[in-house]
Amino acid sequence: MGSNFQLRAFSLSLPLLMSCMLASAAAGADGAKGTNGARDASTSPQINASLDQWLVGEERLAFAMLKTHQLENGAIIAAPSHQQPDYYYHWTRDAALVMTARLLELKSNSSQRGFKDQLLGIAAYLRFSQQTQNAANRSGGLDGLFNLGEPKFLVDGRGYPDGWGRPQSDGPALRALFLIKLKKLAEQSPALASGLAELGLATVIDQVLSKDLQYVQLRWQDSTYDLWEEVRGSHFYTRLVQQSALAAAATYFQAKGQFQAGLNYADGAAAIARSLERFWQPERGYLAATLDFAGGLDYKRLNLDTAVVLGALHTDLGHAAPFGPSDERILATAAHLKTAFANAFAINATGFDAAGNAIAPAIGRYPEDRYDGIGVSIGHPWFLTTLALGELHYRAAHHLTATGKLTLTPVNLGFFTSVSRSPSSLAAGQTLLAGSQAWRDLLVDLKAAGDAFLARVRYHAGADGALSEQFSRDNGYMHGAPDLTWSYAALLTAAAARANL
Ligand code: NOJ
Ligand code: NOJ
Repeated sequence: MGSNFQLRAFSLSLPLLMSCMLASAAAGADGAKGTNGARDASTSPQINASLDQWLVGEERLAFAMLKTHQLENGAIIAAPSHQQPDYYYHWTRDAALVMTARLLELKSNSSQRGFKDQLLGIAAYLRFSQQTQNAANRSGGLDGLFNLGEPKFLVDGRGYPDGWGRPQSDGPALRALFLIKLKKLAEQSPALASGLAELGLATVIDQVLSKDLQYVQLRWQDSTYDLWEEVRGSHFYTRLVQQSALAAAATYFQAKGQFQAGLNYADGAAAIARSLERFWQPERGYLAATLDFAGGLDYKRLNLDTAVVLGALHTDLGHAAPFGPSDERILATAAHLKTAFANAFAINATGFDAAGNAIAPAIGRYPEDRYDGIGVSIGHPWFLTTLALGELHYRAAHHLTATGKLTLTPVNLGFFTSVSRSPSSLAAGQTLLAGSQAWRDLLVDLKAAGDAFLARVRYHAGADGALSEQFSRDNGYMHGAPDLTWSYAALLTAAAARANL
């Protein structure tokens, strides 16, 4: 069990520990069964390796998982489990994030067969998406595109027939962001462009994209459930991904000479951007997750949520754009999240793994969370949110390198002192310039801080690299859906941000 053993043992009696070990072994076996052997010797990460070495194996496993969790008709299951919890559905949000992460492999993939598989995966995803866009469901009919707000679908493409937190309007925006990325990639890669054309996909991409963008234009002001499917209102995460989908579309169409379309999307993006400013709460010093509360869970007293950080990561905003990974309000929110979770979970009392590597606090969705992965009791840390904090540190470092200078402000100071090895040397009003010692130190510290979140993830991952949805706040064992597809996607984008430094 390697480094996991010590931490897990600390609060457990031996019989309980034994039963937990059996339970976790069983969960691992289930996961492997449900994923048709995505896991084999070639994809098992080495448990005694350095973080770099561990990541090589973990990324290989993650790519294999994303591929295996796509069914033949293009549906992407959130996780292979059919019960406790039943995650055997296609969520528009999860699927778009998964496809975006798969593009990372397309970029670096050299094998012919891998490339062909990727293309077929994209083709199936597009056709499945088009099927869901063209049928009415419990979120509404085709007129006004209300049906696009449906959050999850049966794997045969029909809308979920039972009650659910609907609509959720982030999904179409995330899919639009994926499609624009794909179109841009195709422009740089003749092989990709001709592959898509041969499969007859060029038109399908444009049709699906156009519906998603229209939906965002039409419906962004409507009250919606949040990405955690719990609260109805206006959400920072949802608005930010909507804003950046329209902004990316505006830039794309203008560059193509389609000025009218470009202008329409630019107007929409500007309107959403104005609405985002309202989420900043100067008295609290962080961005609110939700405004205009209109129903659902009402106990998120702090309104402090990792969703805000996810918004900055899922949007690929330029260095100067508001609410990207180096925006002072995003960083301030991240600093508050780190403190809140450091104090919330018993496992966070341990700051080092068995080899002496620093491990950062495990991060949950929001401090008051009660979802335990199956039902409602008490919330735990999640892999994808812990990975998001890691990725944010890497991407903030990348932005700084590209910008060449950093001005410390009363708003971002707390974030930078939280990573710095000499926090007392930093003060609001200072400007650090590229090349100075202080600057170089800070970049090293940011990377180390990101690595500490990845080391935390590695600490609680299965010995075979498995990532579930959650892990226990008390003993670190995995919890909730085994092999959550989105966990693997989050691992891949974090690893890519790290490799980009
Ligand atoms: C299932 C949702 O997917 C999850 O996000 C939520 O926390 C629980 N239901 C509890 O409402
Ligand atoms: C629950 C999460 O809250 C939600 O964001 C996700 O879409 C579903 N699980 C499926 O993974």
